[in-house]
Amino acid sequence: MEIGSTARAHGVRLLALDEVDSTNSEARRLIEGGEWGPLWVVAARQTKGRGRMDREWLSPAGNLHASFIISDFGETLVAPQLGFVAGVAAMRALVSAAGRGRFGLKWPNDLMLDGAKLGGILLENVIVPTGDARAPASSVAIIGIGVNCANSPDDLPYEARALAALGAEAPSAATVFAHLSDALVETLEIWRGGAGFAQLREEWLTYASGLGADIRVALARETVEGRFETIDSSGRLVLATSDGARVVEAGDVLLGPRPIAAGIAR
Ligand code: BTN
Repeated sequence: MEIGSTARAHGVRLLALDEVDSTNSEARRLIEGGEWGPLWVVAARQTKGRGRMDREWLSPAGNLHASFIISDFGETLVAPQLGFVAGVAAMRALVSAAGRGRFGLKWPNDLMLDGAKLGGILLENVIVPTGDARAPASSVAIIGIGVNCANSPDDLPYEARALAALGAEAPSAATVFAHLSDALVETLEIWRGGAGFAQLREEWLTYASGLGADIRVALARETVEGRFETIDSSGRLVLATSDGARVVEAGDVLLGPRPIAAGIAR
């Protein structure tokens, strides 16, 4: 596993491991031990890979499991935008590594290939004491990215796919990572701590799965339906429902037809 040349030139470092519980958990331990980044933690295998909402993330050898530590990115308030910064970077990386493919982004943080889940982003934040009385705490972000390169699980309540489906030309995890590390430097430069979010939002929307279509969004206690209009200037999903516009902060977008029997849509 090697970092891309642009990332290296920008002082980004790499910690490559054979096996770890979770690269996000390892990144957190490193931050608690004084690491500020920019550093990628990559592992060939994870024994306790984590997805959003405390879900398990299956992490066999051959797939990409990578977490980026970044500090000094601006206000803690803008940290959630990093999911979009990383999503656009992942799209740029996949398109340049695979040369073709039908890649997309499913709000908020899913990477898609041909309408099936290819990977995901898990954003976490660690508050670290600075020792400075004027600004006693600082926020360090962890951007965890998993891409199914060689394998995808087949027992999930949704369809998953791996890059291997692209055939002989499918890029390896190492190739995807080299492109990703460079692409993230590029998108972070566009983002500039939030100042360039509008431009990234436009690019994100060019990859958005289900944009303009009727979708369902599973929230904590209900599922809402409506037309996926856009994402707003803070990255929230905007739906046109029969009761008017609805802005959604957190949830899971469900694409495809509504299930006939209750209980099978997850
Ligand atoms: C999701 O779609 O739910 C997010 C999946 C994120 C998985 C990656 S793999 C690298 C990093 N380490 C983890 O434990 N999770 C993220």
